[in-house]
Amino acid sequence: MDHFLYRDGVLHAEDVSLPAIAAAVGTPAYVYSAATLLRHYRLFDDALAWGPHLVCYAVKAASNVAILKLLGDAGAGMDVVSEGEYRRARAAGVPGERIVFSGIGKTEGEMRHVLENGVRQINLESEPEMRALSRIAATMGVEVPVTVRVNPDVDARTHEKIATGKAENKFGIPIARARDVYAEIAALPGLRAVGVDVHIGSQLTDLDPFRQAYRKVADLTRALRDDGHAIERLDLGGGLGIPYERSNLAPPVPAEYGEVIRQEVGDLGCEIEIEPGRLIAGNAGILLSRVIYLKHGEGRDFLIVDAAMNDLIRPAMYGAHHDIVPVAEPPAGVDLSPADVVGPVCESGDTFAKARPLPPLDGGDLIAFRGAGAYAAVMASEYNSRPLVPEVLVQGDEWSVIRRRPTWDEMLERESIPDWL
Ligand code: LLP
Repeated sequence: MDHFLYRDGVLHAEDVSLPAIAAAVGTPAYVYSAATLLRHYRLFDDALAWGPHLVCYAVKAASNVAILKLLGDAGAGMDVVSEGEYRRARAAGVPGERIVFSGIGKTEGEMRHVLENGVRQINLESEPEMRALSRIAATMGVEVPVTVRVNPDVDARTHEKIATGKAENKFGIPIARARDVYAEIAALPGLRAVGVDVHIGSQLTDLDPFRQAYRKVADLTRALRDDGHAIERLDLGGGLGIPYERSNLAPPVPAEYGEVIRQEVGDLGCEIEIEPGRLIAGNAGILLSRVIYLKHGEGRDFLIVDAAMNDLIRPAMYGAHHDIVPVAEPPAGVDLSPADVVGPVCESGDTFAKARPLPPLDGGDLIAFRGAGAYAAVMASEYNSRPLVPEVLVQGDEWSVIRRRPTWDEMLERESIPDWL
């Protein structure tokens, strides 16, 4: 469920009409619904209410500081994977004790920065990283709470580019080696193993891979406790999928996911951390765009819109589906006809949809790409020297630009021509 609905024949974000935003901000533009973001965060919070827990929003999904402030003020922790994301979370007012630092290639500089400024735990992804962190922490005279991200060798049954829990993926430490690694942590200065971490992939539409992974984590936790480690937290990652196509069956909901967690690890008495990103932000955002031209090609129609692959790369990168809807509500029973929805970027990959059944649309009409709240604005670039797309946050009948479109001068001012040219 989200808060992008037709009212009086016009698509709204909560109580704000999208044409009003387009008129003020221009297109393309991302528009987020605060009510949807909060609702999704609370679904996870409620799903884990049976025990101590912290929902750490995966900042990578949508990292605007206003979104982080909204979720942080509601009590969310944050899962960050870079110094940049850490700085965003702190700028949004989230305290270090609610920030988990994940990521497979943390540099020494990044680790030092979070240790100096406060962090809840660091999730280790390799033995060299573990030793580097031990050195840094020992030099600083601090003891840092760590978990080890284990690779459980479970097939997440998702797109190959976003599966992370198979042995062939670059992530984590093979679960079979985990006991040796925890033994080394116990012997190293500056590190205190507080938990186990796992994340098997993103856009999972089936709970079974989670169940398999969490069962392995439970077994490991018991073994580690037998070895004398005080495992008190489990970070169970993110990954729960969202319905990108309205017409398709919906994936499991957070309550069902929370129940799987309770069944598999609930008896261990651990504090549960999860790192959802997509389910919180995905359907809380749309990309608002305007049709530039309708072009009749050879046997097919092209709807050329002012958003492009640089603004929303998921269709080009993963073959991902985003529902596309007109902002002006089409009359009930209107005839749909197929069109290729494409952007203005100079490559054929700049295609959002092929032969998509759509109501009549023409130059000047507004459309919305649904499910564009997660991995959308954050993955935008300035390819073809198209300015970074602005972001707008709506709450009730209030709305604000939370990232403005850069000016042409701003786009050029980071570059310089060497004086030897
Ligand atoms: N935790 C870790 C360690 C992760 O790597 C990720 C996502 C998450 C949590 C959040 O997973 P979520 O709940 O959002 O599924 N750009 C791709 C998705 C990449 C996901 C990367 N890691 C896409 O557009 O589909």
